[in-house]
Amino acid sequence: MQIHVTDQKGIRHSLEALEGFRLMEIIRDWGLDVKAECGGACACATCHVYVEPDWTGKLYEAQDEEIDMLDNAFAVEDNSRLSCQLLMSEDLDGIELTLAPGTQKDDAAAA
Ligand code: FES
Repeated sequence: MQIHVTDQKGIRHSLEALEGFRLMEIIRDWGLDVKAECGGACACATCHVYVEPDWTGKLYEAQDEEIDMLDNAFAVEDNSRLSCQLLMSEDLDGIELTLAPGTQKDDAAAA
């Protein structure tokens, strides 16, 4: 299975993905620049991604915790999600994501 991630510089990466991993972990473990400051605890919003609209219907609905975090995130759009709250599954094979601004490790605005 694969996920496709466009980074903050506009470069698209195709990453091998294993079922059950958080999408944030897959992005981070392949070495893309994602801050993911809280390590997946839904407490930082620095793993914010935009999900291609064709794919949003395949995702679990965001829980209150995630919605609350996104309320305070930077540059939120209708297709914003926290990638640490999305678990890889066969349904998501081929999903297209874009890392949101403010998710880079060296970006002071990400806090
Ligand atoms: S890693 Fe912190 S909210 Fe996702």
